Amino acid sequence: MKEVVVSGIRSTGNLHLGNYYGALSKFVKMQEDYDCLFFIADLHALTTHPDPKLLHSNVKDILAEYLASGIDPEKATIFVQSDVPEIPELYLLLNMHVGIGELMRTASFKDKARKQLGIKTDATKDDDDIERQIIGTDSNKRVNAGLLTYPTLMAVDILIQKANKVPVGKDQEQHLELTRRFARRFNSFYGVDLFPEPTNFNFGDHAVKVPGLDGSGKMGKSEGNCIYLVDDEKTLRKKVMRAVTDQGPAEPNQPISQPVQNLLTLMELTSAPEVVEHYRNAYADCSIRYGDMKKQLAEDILKVTTPIRERYLDIRNDDAFISRVVKAGAEKARERAAKTLAEVRQIMGITKFY
Ligand code: TRP
Repeated sequence: MKEVVVSGIRSTGNLHLGNYYGALSKFVKMQEDYDCLFFIADLHALTTHPDPKLLHSNVKDILAEYLASGIDPEKATIFVQSDVPEIPELYLLLNMHVGIGELMRTASFKDKARKQLGIKTDATKDDDDIERQIIGTDSNKRVNAGLLTYPTLMAVDILIQKANKVPVGKDQEQHLELTRRFARRFNSFYGVDLFPEPTNFNFGDHAVKVPGLDGSGKMGKSEGNCIYLVDDEKTLRKKVMRAVTDQGPAEPNQPISQPVQNLLTLMELTSAPEVVEHYRNAYADCSIRYGDMKKQLAEDILKVTTPIRERYLDIRNDDAFISRVVKAGAEKARERAAKTLAEVRQIMGITKFY
């Protein structure tokens, strides 16, 4: 039997090059050798209160981007989280074994709670302040309980499919650790061997960190430094041409500055090795021209994104295809989820009288 791989993505906006190299391109390989389930986490998206009018079309965007990037519904199960009602039911049951303390100590919770409370500083030392505000009586300040139990819901996504491997980035490592802990706890509390403990699937290689265009860190939706898979040619070229660089190397063989290294990293992902080599050497001997480098980079990125974008536009307009895919995906996901849920109910003593 093939090992089970589960991964989800929150439906909060279009996918970017970081999502592509960090996740999608790997999913496309995994679907060949594993029993894969990839889904859109629309219930998770609710924790940050998306505009209801936009949520559905966001889910659709991501579905189309998944499919356009090469995830094949014949090989992998593609579904929408909210199409599987067994997930919220197991979420309720599993929450009975989850401590509010361990949830409150989760880094992502503290981070988002701070945002919802309007606490500006990102210092970690104001944990007490967050806790005081959370249980305080200021009725204008509220951290929703869904945010607190985010890790339970994520654990359920994984455990309900009895997944063995979960490809996630570093920012989700702690959630996966909690998932393992919840699985162990459930198994030992009831003396069963129901849930396998899932591990992170980083595919052997070191995780690729895709930098943004602003000269600083990782490409991220909230950073405003993204190249989206569906950016049209003009937008994409403009973004790359505006990417942050430096004032040019002042002397031969000086260390490469962060902003320029970021562009080289993007080139390593999208350009031919000799192209990267060329610009590396040009930096070293001070002959580099950033305008040329960026033009080349934009060209090479477009080679990756254009076919995806074209497929995306076709799929996005094909409602019949999208609904066929998610309906079949939901059926498969539900079949397995229902089995696990029935086992859990039985183990916990929730049995029917009729
Ligand atoms: N929390 C994940 C993120 O923000 C998304 C997610 C939800 C997920 N459920 C999951 C990822 C289950 C992997 C497995 O990226």
